[in-house]
Amino acid sequence: MNTQLRPLGRSSVTVGPLGLGCWPLAGMTREGVTREAAIATVGAALEAGITHLDTAYCYGAHGESELAIRAALAERGGSSARDLVVIAGKCGVHWEPAPGLSPSRRLVVDGHPKRLRAEAEESLTRLGTDRLDLLYLHSPDPNVPIEESAGALKQLQEEGKALAIGLSNGGRTSLERFASACPLDACQLPFNMLQREIEVDILPWCRDQSVGLVAYWPLMKGLLAGKMHRGQTFPTTDSRHKYAIFQGEAYERNLDFVETLRPCAARLGVSLPDLVLAWTAEQPGITSVLFGATNPRQVMENAHARRCVLDDDTRRAIAAAIQARGPVPGRQPVEVPASSG
Ligand SMILES: NC(=O)c1ccc[n+]([C@@H]2O[C@H](COP(=O)([O-])OP(=O)(O)OC[C@H]3O[C@@H](n4cnc5c(N)ncnc54)[C@H](OP(=O)(O)O)[C@@H]3O)[C@@H](O)[C@H]2O)c1
Repeated sequence: MNTQLRPLGRSSVTVGPLGLGCWPLAGMTREGVTREAAIATVGAALEAGITHLDTAYCYGAHGESELAIRAALAERGGSSARDLVVIAGKCGVHWEPAPGLSPSRRLVVDGHPKRLRAEAEESLTRLGTDRLDLLYLHSPDPNVPIEESAGALKQLQEEGKALAIGLSNGGRTSLERFASACPLDACQLPFNMLQREIEVDILPWCRDQSVGLVAYWPLMKGLLAGKMHRGQTFPTTDSRHKYAIFQGEAYERNLDFVETLRPCAARLGVSLPDLVLAWTAEQPGITSVLFGATNPRQVMENAHARRCVLDDDTRRAIAAAIQARGPVPGRQPVEVPASSG
């Protein structure tokens, strides 16, 4: 894997090919991740030289992910450690109580400028820092003209509270409209071996516009790490039970796909997650790949992917396996309706 630092868009912020996604360590993928485990997981990333930390206002009902990052940095010297990392935050999505649902809360998208400022400033307080190195609009809000949301982030940038600006979960139109109102340095979308919709028009647009592409779900929420098995059931406290990739025939075929990858990993002498992360990071136009983790062991294993070098035989075998499985629908990016402009 090419481990060189690369710039995020036209900003001064640079990131490595791998970043730590801090959603699962806030107990969001599944319950049962302790605060100690969360802090140790971030700490393991820092020890391994993975300094791109991806979080959001809504990662944890009460900012658990941001608080874990703060605590891990505090254990390593506080402000001196903070200056060595790239903290990517997001605003524009928050939790609201939802009686009758399990868990009894739901995520709400709100891209009103006042709300965005309040969330970004609360994130800074939780993180114990004066700036986010990268601040994304978490998702376009169909009820707010995206130029207004972009303008709010631009203002935060002008105040020095954010160094680079990104849009997450936006489609091509959303990206273009956002970029017309605020310099755009990065976009964040799902991308993995089987969910590659962004290759059609978003990746080419990003490359053309010099906008960084930060990929999420590289491990398909653990499936491509090879940890799932046939007949597996997820408790209701594990949010994966809701995703189509873990259900029915699609799930069986996804497991078949994973089996075809195992010999490739074995031949190179690497683990399955390392093979998958190395492949993802080397796809043209991908700036950084965010893997989630729930414990230090996973981080240490995934960090090894930086030493994994794919050869042409492996690339061909992976391409054949991907073609045989066929594409799997992923989350669709949000296109802001024309009426919101
Ligand atoms: N912008 C957005 O809207 C958005 C949406 C989704 C994700 N993201 C970002 O992207 C990051 C990555 O996505 P993700 O965390 O949902 O999914 P992911 O990276 O595809 O998968 C993470 C899961 O894989 C498992 N795993 C990781 N390393 C492993 C290893 N070496 N061996 C076995 N299992 C391993 C863990 O499962 P267990 O939990 O079972 O341990 C972990 O929760 C997020 O954390 C977040 O920062 C952003």
